[in-house]
Amino acid sequence: MKSIILAGGSGTRLYPVTRIVNKHLLPVYNKPMIYYPLSLVMLIGIREILLVVNPQDLEAYRGLLKDGSHLGMSISYAVQKEPRGLAEGLILGENFVGDENICYVLGDNIFFGHDLPKILVEAKEEVERKGGAHIFGYYVKDPERFGVVEFDREGNVISLEEKPKNPKSHYAVVGLYFYDREAVEIAKRVKPSDRGELEITFVNEEYRKKGKLKVKILGRGFAWFDAGTHDSFLEAGEFVATIEKKTGLMIGCIEEIAYRNGWINKEQLKKLARSMEKTEYGKYLLRVAEEEG
Ligand code: TTP
Repeated sequence: MKSIILAGGSGTRLYPVTRIVNKHLLPVYNKPMIYYPLSLVMLIGIREILLVVNPQDLEAYRGLLKDGSHLGMSISYAVQKEPRGLAEGLILGENFVGDENICYVLGDNIFFGHDLPKILVEAKEEVERKGGAHIFGYYVKDPERFGVVEFDREGNVISLEEKPKNPKSHYAVVGLYFYDREAVEIAKRVKPSDRGELEITFVNEEYRKKGKLKVKILGRGFAWFDAGTHDSFLEAGEFVATIEKKTGLMIGCIEEIAYRNGWINKEQLKKLARSMEKTEYGKYLLRVAEEEG
């Protein structure tokens, strides 16, 4: 499986902060926002990633993440000329995807929770075995602000609604989706919505109509942030700071994950650590490299 991470968009809900700086480059506590979704796909073993970026940000992302080889990965970039909607990333990723299945992630979604990779790997393997699509639901108190999913006991999706006035459930659809290769063809058929965007809900709805859309619930032990507003951005940063200070372990540390996955060796990790040894981040990486075993 390959992954496409969306890091374009206009970020208008974070204005004036994002007038010049792209949202996913902003620091969520001690690392750029993009590290969090990137680390998640790394945790489920995906090494080939396409980052969808705005034209003016391409060089910044290339500077930050390069071609991924320093992490034992392959990172490439697709430029989205204008923010035409979430489904366009699938079209831009057509050649990158080839015949593979896809883990599709919104770059401003931050997840945390025990056994999260396990749940995601289960969904990933199911799509790899049987095809179709998998989405994830998260209980929220204000579902009318989100895409909302209604489902049966077996996790089959009954309905999907975008920001409904009378939500049929309390479960918001989070920004992480597993699709088979068919998603690219479906995305090509999407017509712009009333707000002029190629909506990802259309893609999910097509899978639902064919009885091929499953939902898994991320229960109360999980934290999910869509860090796209001033408040949720701050909350996400505070959350990461609190957990990291309590445990002494980092969330979303891409160099650590690359090392623990065996994609880079101790010497490579130390080299990355030394390039930022004045920071707690660099010191943390050195500690990881010096751990026993
Ligand atoms: P949104 O949060 O829906 O949109 P946005 O980031 O442009 O922000 P705002 O609503 O404040 O104007 O986007 C969800 C994610 O998808 C986010 O990480 C940005 C990304 N995105 C793209 O990469 N391309 C797009 O065309 C759009 C609309 C979003």
